Amino acid sequence: MKGPVTCRRRGPLRGDFEVPGDKSVSHRSLLFAALARGETRVRGLLRAEDVHSTWKAVERLGARVREEGSEVVVTPPPVLAEPDDVIDCGNSGTSLRLLAGVLAGVPGLSVLTGDASLRRRPVRRVVEPLRAMGGVLEARDGDRLPPLVIRGRKLRGTRHVLAVASAQVKSAILLAGLAADGETVVEEPAQSRDHTERMLRRMGADLSVDGLRVSIRPSTLTGGEVDVPGDISSAAFFLCGAAALPGSRVTARGLGTNPTRTGLLDVLRAMGAGVEVANERESAGEPRADVTVRGGPLVATTIEGALVPRLIDELPVLMVLATQARGRTLIRDARELRVKESDRLAGMGEALAAAGARIELFDDGCAIEGPTPLRGVSVRTRMDHRVAMSMAIAQLLAGGDEVVLDDVACVDTSFPSFFSILDRLSEGA
Ligand code: S3P
Repeated sequence: MKGPVTCRRRGPLRGDFEVPGDKSVSHRSLLFAALARGETRVRGLLRAEDVHSTWKAVERLGARVREEGSEVVVTPPPVLAEPDDVIDCGNSGTSLRLLAGVLAGVPGLSVLTGDASLRRRPVRRVVEPLRAMGGVLEARDGDRLPPLVIRGRKLRGTRHVLAVASAQVKSAILLAGLAADGETVVEEPAQSRDHTERMLRRMGADLSVDGLRVSIRPSTLTGGEVDVPGDISSAAFFLCGAAALPGSRVTARGLGTNPTRTGLLDVLRAMGAGVEVANERESAGEPRADVTVRGGPLVATTIEGALVPRLIDELPVLMVLATQARGRTLIRDARELRVKESDRLAGMGEALAAAGARIELFDDGCAIEGPTPLRGVSVRTRMDHRVAMSMAIAQLLAGGDEVVLDDVACVDTSFPSFFSILDRLSEGA
């Protein structure tokens, strides 16, 4: 969907929905399969623009990716090819940063770039550790921003202590370590999502985890089967919408419930929403379940510290939810929100304040006083899918007022079926 869109739905939200595939797991399945021996079959791959960027990139490196019914099959090349053109990662930071880790150790020249939003996002966080491993990389504006130019060569294993908990940086280093000499160790300040560790181990990597410390030794991966769980970061919009609208009851089926991603469920419970987790199972190394959320009166909470990486992508919609909770919700330690697809603290702060929220912004978070009735507003989505979807949920809380989103093309980067599921759940009410 392109161009401006006027939202004029009414809550509550009711019904079941199948959550589209997890974006983080989808990227990793294509990329790791391209590095493995033998074919990999991926079930439930997210079909969205960000994942398509990784799909195109691995094809440029010589992998073959084909659809077989609802599955996607990846055949790796005998050795990764030097890309014959610039690799365009579109809006996808995960594609760019994970590919940097792979390409730093592959002989040849590669250039990684992306759209205007991605070209404003920091890359020094991957350039520096990869250089410490002997990588030769350069980026624009004093190594701050893409495009990123990489002259691949043999790397050496090194120990890294990360300043921020970032699964993208951790993964870039581990992927570089897969092909480096000796052991590579990454230590994070807090636990970020661990999909890379789980999938690499399942594919045969010599990888061990000790608390916040992950070590990897040079290994050969073997392809196999990946079953992508539903994306909790996508389901979050409907789960939060349901929590905020009394009379709502929605069930997300097949939701990924990896504990490094379920901070949202902890916060919903702390705010007093009804949360039920049923049918828990594990498939291809990732836990999943059916999760039901019911609406009701909400109370304010504090989100900070080690909880933040467990819900970093859900914070925009949690900011919307906080406007409906009694008391002062405090979000701290979330400076990373400023370097996502847009500065999400600024974007959500501006949009929610214009909609009547009582919000105070800090450098690393915000305080939101509730409950406040919201009103109609015109929103600048800033090429950021999660800002667009969060404000579509805010419209449900605006007493029948309209919310105009200036551009919703960005929603296709992660969740092309977002508006149709929203229509179905709001009509089911
Ligand atoms: C992701 C890691 C997170 C997250 C992003 C996806 C990943 O980013 O915000 O949407 O797939 O590894 P950071 O690593 O920058 O925290």
